[in-house]
Amino acid sequence: MCGIVGYVGHRNVSDVIIAGLQSLEYRGYDSAGMAVLEAPGITIVKGVGKVSDLRKMLSERPLCGSQGIGHTRWATHGGVTEENAHPHCDSSSNIVLVHNGIVENYREIRSEIPGEYRSETDTEVVAQLLSTLYRGNMVGALVELQSRLRGSFALAIMAKDLPGKIYCLRKGSPLVVGMSRDGESLCASDVPAILPYTQDVVYLDDGDISELSTAGIRFWNAAGESVEKRVSHIDWDVSMVDKGGYPHFMLKEINEQGAVLRNSMAGRISGRRVVLSEELPWTRDDVLSWKKLHVVACGTSYYAALVAERFLEDITGFDIRVDVASEYRYRNIMAGPDTLAVFVSQSGETADTLAAERLAMGKGARCLAVTNVLGSTLAREVHDILQLKAGPEIGVAATKTFMGQITVLYLLALHLAKLQGRLPAAMEEELVGEMLSLPYKVEAVLARQESLQKLAAIYSAAEDFLYLGRGRSFPVALEGALKLKEISYIHAEAYAAGEMKHGPIALLDRNVPVVVITPKDGLHEKTFSNILEAKARRAPVIALVTEGDSSLDGTADHVFPVPATLDQFTPFVTVVPLQLFAYYFAKFLGCDIDQPRNLAKSVTVE
Ligand code: F6R
Repeated sequence: MCGIVGYVGHRNVSDVIIAGLQSLEYRGYDSAGMAVLEAPGITIVKGVGKVSDLRKMLSERPLCGSQGIGHTRWATHGGVTEENAHPHCDSSSNIVLVHNGIVENYREIRSEIPGEYRSETDTEVVAQLLSTLYRGNMVGALVELQSRLRGSFALAIMAKDLPGKIYCLRKGSPLVVGMSRDGESLCASDVPAILPYTQDVVYLDDGDISELSTAGIRFWNAAGESVEKRVSHIDWDVSMVDKGGYPHFMLKEINEQGAVLRNSMAGRISGRRVVLSEELPWTRDDVLSWKKLHVVACGTSYYAALVAERFLEDITGFDIRVDVASEYRYRNIMAGPDTLAVFVSQSGETADTLAAERLAMGKGARCLAVTNVLGSTLAREVHDILQLKAGPEIGVAATKTFMGQITVLYLLALHLAKLQGRLPAAMEEELVGEMLSLPYKVEAVLARQESLQKLAAIYSAAEDFLYLGRGRSFPVALEGALKLKEISYIHAEAYAAGEMKHGPIALLDRNVPVVVITPKDGLHEKTFSNILEAKARRAPVIALVTEGDSSLDGTADHVFPVPATLDQFTPFVTVVPLQLFAYYFAKFLGCDIDQPRNLAKSVTVE
């Protein structure tokens, strides 16, 4: 969950590290720090707060040098204090390092290496242990270090007696390295920090060690043998990781959703037919041999999976199970060679999703990753990949990747149904034709965001919300409520509309607005009854309806119309107003929208 940046080159390293940390701040933002080689020693500046606070500290205490490592933290071991902020060093101050991940046996190691510890972190213990193992050969010491540590870690390390070099070690937590044409070497937890210098990167594999210098980057495996690594070209460019004139990344990303739909469909549709056979080279026999379909994810990705579940069950004959990864991994899962297991993860680094995937792989299931990050751990471990093509998502609250996920999962459903022989050509053409119109419909919703801004202001005093939806609108309600609570810290609960009378109705009074997602579909009339039940308890009702539907006029307090689409596709247009409502609500309250409290984008702890 933390962000790491390392740089060795010819520029002022503190500028490079600050810029890099800012692009990784979505990974954690409770404290930040950096260590710079200022010959003959290494100077550390760190403290509680965001990268902008670190920048202020540096204006008072500028660091001069062209080699350094930096860190932005999401606290796990030890509170949010200056002492616990990274970098950490050994007691002789020769070795200094930054760390992402968790070392599970740190207490054991700490008791073996007595001495004065300045922090409560597992990271300082790693620095002390490395110092006892290091006898002039850093690669050898790192080979030994990784055999002693349990857990997951990505480390960037400098030693005072090894100027000009930064060492990296990866096990379980992501780390990527790259070299610019000007002889600058970088490492980072994620590519946005490296993109301004190069689009050619190497993703370290578990156990990999690398040495960065101005002469190049060298690699060794966990046994200490020198290895060559494959270079990956990243097709994201640096303009994709700025706000592009928007006040927040979240707003920019919500507004990009028409383009995300187009990109995620591009090259996967020809005429009005789905063409996924290059990316998923499955035969009809493969698909017919799978009797079960498991879809596993966390958070927003799980809600995307729930949206897709309805479509998958409509058009494929699979026995479908959709589960949150943190539950799936601890159950007695009946998966095997007769199972297609789909793991949905924007980052591809979520610890629970990875554990669930490893469980399914171990049982012999065919595993597919639906992810935005091709070089991610998930993408590299599974049999098949479908990339979202949403571009980098920096706002901590996921929005455009939800859109990318449902798009790709719908294409997957169509591909599977086709291979099963269950999708008549006319039906495929009708469904795909409608999918192709969705970017315009999403953009029509985006064009009316001013009215959602006004709505957010009207309800800004509310402290509790209930979100309701039936069928496909139920996971949309879950996602809408999650967005509101994540970024505005307002309590919002989502229920299947039919469940309201079984308990949550007790909460309702004039102070609890009810947001109802009720497009004109087969369940519209049923949901209408639930709206009347809420109104009878004087709850204000905000209803998302299909354009032209006047059935709620005079009943709902506010109505927001969305463009008409086929029943199967309503989530694509109903989720957008809920994202915007949450955004403007949080903005009205003055919340830190892109970096909400307690959250981090990439959840690499269990
Ligand atoms: C919510 C959000 C999280 C993530 C969840 C899974 O806005 O972003 O709920 O969806 O942490 O993350 P990924 O998709 O990276 O596995």
